[in-house]
Amino acid sequence: MPLVSMRQLLDEAAKGGYGVGAFNVNDMEQIQAIMEAAKQTNSPVIIQASRGARAYAQDRYLYHLILAASELYPEIPLAMHLDHGNSFETCKSAIELGFTSVMMDGSLKADGKTPASFEENVAVTKQVVDFAHERGITVEGEIGVLGGVEDGHGAGGSGLEHVTDPDQAVEFAEKTGVDALAIAIGTSHGAYKFSKKPDGSVLKMDILLAIHKRLPKTHLVMHGSSSVPKDLQDIINQYGGKLKETWGVPVEEIQLGIRNGVRKVNVDTDNRLAITGAIRKVLWETPEKFDPRDYLKPAREAMQKVVALRMTQFGQAGHAGDYQAVSIAEIAKGYKNGSLSTKPLVADK
Ligand code: 13P
Repeated sequence: MPLVSMRQLLDEAAKGGYGVGAFNVNDMEQIQAIMEAAKQTNSPVIIQASRGARAYAQDRYLYHLILAASELYPEIPLAMHLDHGNSFETCKSAIELGFTSVMMDGSLKADGKTPASFEENVAVTKQVVDFAHERGITVEGEIGVLGGVEDGHGAGGSGLEHVTDPDQAVEFAEKTGVDALAIAIGTSHGAYKFSKKPDGSVLKMDILLAIHKRLPKTHLVMHGSSSVPKDLQDIINQYGGKLKETWGVPVEEIQLGIRNGVRKVNVDTDNRLAITGAIRKVLWETPEKFDPRDYLKPAREAMQKVVALRMTQFGQAGHAGDYQAVSIAEIAKGYKNGSLSTKPLVADK
């Protein structure tokens, strides 16, 4: 299947009532792990690359690796998404390269650190929406500010500092016409999300529910959704690592989100932990080894296991064959003639 529009993928997820994992990549092994997991579980999937990943791997390597994935797994709907674009130019360059979806994170200024005003966020996001939709490309926006830092991008601090205001979320969706809306409900990027074991609800689920009530048809996005499983932390520490005790987002909270409009679930850290643990184990137990394949193969398998589990937990498993790809040119026509709506349905408070 050619690379598909993320809008199509999320519209289908809404029809089916499931969430889709968006997994970050920097290299070939991560892409292979995701595609094998998608095949194993028969799942549609989003592969995303941040600015940091684009700088690390170089654009053309990344693009062609992900394109190769779509050729090798024609049965899997696959969207290629830019994670946390910091400016119009960054999003434009991703679109020109061949990404089928971009995130314009206008919640922060272009430095990727300083919170931006609502007006600045609306202006830059709308500029990206106009450019992208004309070309059939999906846009994710963000309202509210996530916690933590990932690949140098983020305001830092806890995820509870700038949670999304539901009224602003409505105004933002109306003014920008984004296809998907990332909201801040207490999650943060990275391994250190919560310093005590979550008891009951750790996220501001009341905010998510309020936003979903007002914007019942808008695809919501949960960033910072790694669960940071204890067993993956333990493997790293057992083989010489030094991770401090930490907790992530319980999968049940993500599932509650999925029952309430969350269609895209971002996961990076869990895969990083799985990879690093597997590599440490091989190097610790067999220090004589020096062929990278001896540790990259188990690393790839460990990541595949995590991704396949998340695909099952998010509900996307079993849905790869539900639909055929609509071409990006057709999607562009849909935005133009209004069959793909960019006006959110807004319900009363
Ligand atoms: P985690 O650090 O929780 O995996 O979040 C990743 C993410 O949100 C990427 O945008």
